[in-house]
Amino acid sequence: MALSEATVKVIKQAQQKMPMPRSALLFALRTVQADEGQVGPKEVEALSELFAISPVQIEGVARFYDLLSPEPEGRHPVRVCEGVVCVMRGGDAIWEFLGTQMEGIFSKHMVALSRVACLGHCDHAPAALVDDSLVGPLDHDDVRGILEGIVGRKADHD
Ligand code: FES
Repeated sequence: MALSEATVKVIKQAQQKMPMPRSALLFALRTVQADEGQVGPKEVEALSELFAISPVQIEGVARFYDLLSPEPEGRHPVRVCEGVVCVMRGGDAIWEFLGTQMEGIFSKHMVALSRVACLGHCDHAPAALVDDSLVGPLDHDDVRGILEGIVGRKADHD
C-alpha cells in the first residue's frame, strides 16, 4: 500500500468518528497530502481500498481542490491567490515579483509556487498560503521576507 501505517491508522480513526466512513474522505486526502507530499495515482488507489470507493470518485474529489497535488510538491508550497479581490489589489504583480525572486536562489524541490482560487482571506488581499499559514496583504518586502524565512528554515534543517 502506498500509505504509511501511521497515515492509515489516522484515517481509520477518523472514519470511525464519522456517521459514515466516507465522510472522512476530505480529512484523509489532506492527511495524505501532508504525510506523503502528494495525492498521486498510488495514493488514490490506496484510499480507494480504504474507503471502498472507486478510484475515479476519489480522483474526482482530489482534483477539485487546489491544495491537493497529484505530483510531489516542493517542501514549502507557496500558493498565491488568483481570486478577483487579490488580482484587483495587486496579486498578479506579487506573483510576477515572486517569480523573479526565485531565480537562482531556490530549487524546485524546496519551494513550489502555484496560483490558487480564493483562499477566503480577501480582507487581507493580495494573499497567499505559505506552508499552512495565510499571509497578506503582501508587498514586495513581505515576499522577500517569506523567501528569506524559507531559506533560514532550510539552513536550520541542513
Ligand atoms: S480573492 Fe484572494 S483571498 Fe479571496
